[in-house]
Amino acid sequence: MEQSERVVIVTGAASGIGRATAVRLAAAGDVVLLADRDGEGLARVAREIAACGGRAQPAVLDVASSDDCAAAVAAAARLGPLGGLVNVAGMTTAPDGVETISDAQLELVLQVNVGAIFRLGRHAIPLMRAAGGGVIVNTSSVHAFATMTDNAAYAASKGAITALTRQLALDLAPDRIRAVAVAPGSVDTPMTRHELARRGVSAEEAGFASGEAGSTAIGRVAAPEEIAAVIAWLASPDAAVLNGTTVVADAGLLARLV
Ligand SMILES: NC(=O)c1ccc[n+]([C@@H]2O[C@H](COP(=O)([O-])OP(=O)(O)OC[C@H]3O[C@@H](n4cnc5c(N)ncnc54)[C@H](O)[C@@H]3O)[C@@H](O)[C@H]2O)c1
Repeated sequence: MEQSERVVIVTGAASGIGRATAVRLAAAGDVVLLADRDGEGLARVAREIAACGGRAQPAVLDVASSDDCAAAVAAAARLGPLGGLVNVAGMTTAPDGVETISDAQLELVLQVNVGAIFRLGRHAIPLMRAAGGGVIVNTSSVHAFATMTDNAAYAASKGAITALTRQLALDLAPDRIRAVAVAPGSVDTPMTRHELARRGVSAEEAGFASGEAGSTAIGRVAAPEEIAAVIAWLASPDAAVLNGTTVVADAGLLARLV
């Protein structure tokens, strides 16, 4: 069952793609549990959704914590039958490499980007099963398919998300729970601007000001709202025949060979 009025958990909901996704799903009638470690950001998004007549509730959590994940899913269950889990929260440790990253940093990026899907899923899946079905949308990246130098842990984590999405689709199909992923390219969010700044590239140089991708990318920089539109579609009954797949939403970034 993918009902028109569902409770959907969105992680990373305080910023960037997660915020835009939460706003979009709430506008479409979903009851959204806004999950993030940034409580102030969540409160802002909750106010924004309420001002538009949508329904949302903030839940501060660290997706690397089992207890926090269990509590967030329980909070979602109190809002009604759970129909969706949208895993957007993520982090990068770049610059990193196999020789340079510490065990602690490696553990952190894998736990936040990949482990969270297990930790939230183990509580959310039984609820969606009981509700007659649902959908899990994960946030992979173009880094699952092609990458840049010094990005080992992030690239590995995003490849794992794409593989895990296939696995979830297969395992959960009998329960009428779909699992799909989106792989964004370059999106104008705080995470990307932070990464550009670290590399000494200004937003203007990267084409973020104009919307045209410049020296760092091919195609076009996406707005978070454009990725949210893809996620909302993936989470909707219109995408019922998509299962186990990762949809690349990169404005043509991967299309170019040289
Ligand atoms: N921005 C891009 O170009 C791009 C491209 C491909 C994939 N992605 C992926 O999209 C997702 C969202 O990224 P964004 O660009 O919107 O970044 P962002 O920094 O704007 O938002 C990430 C959010 O995740 C939250 N978060 C991080 N660690 C957390 C934790 N341990 N517990 C709870 N919340 C946590 C942050 O507080 C933040 O609100 C990430 O998974 C990222 O890897 C982004």
